[in-house]
Amino acid sequence: MGLETKVSRKREDSDLMLLLLTIFMYTQISSGFNPKIKKDPYKGFVYTSFQERATKISHQNVARLANNAGDGNLGLICSKIAGDESRHEKAYQAIFKEILNRDPEGGLKSFYELMTDQVKTRS
Ligand SMILES: [Fe+2]
Repeated sequence: MGLETKVSRKREDSDLMLLLLTIFMYTQISSGFNPKIKKDPYKGFVYTSFQERATKISHQNVARLANNAGDGNLGLICSKIAGDESRHEKAYQAIFKEILNRDPEGGLKSFYELMTDQVKTRS
């Protein structure tokens, strides 16, 4: 496999991880979540990659409700906060993507442990 193919494959793998993070977020968001990060900073980046998306969606929903209720100021404030959360999400996802590029085994190990520990205790 050539270098160009390997790089392309890594990007596809990283995108797949981000898709899985999104799916994971939707399965965890309804019942609360303790990432149990302890001494593994990779897990912190996995967790924040989807936690920021969750807060973005939450603030977007509050903005929509506020606007529908006639409180444009609250709607505007919540929309701006949702924009901040979106930028945080992109930053943490970029960090975790870089972790996967530089340390795929370590990143995937942390990702796997976070996913399986949390999902198993809830099923
Ligand atoms: Fe945030």
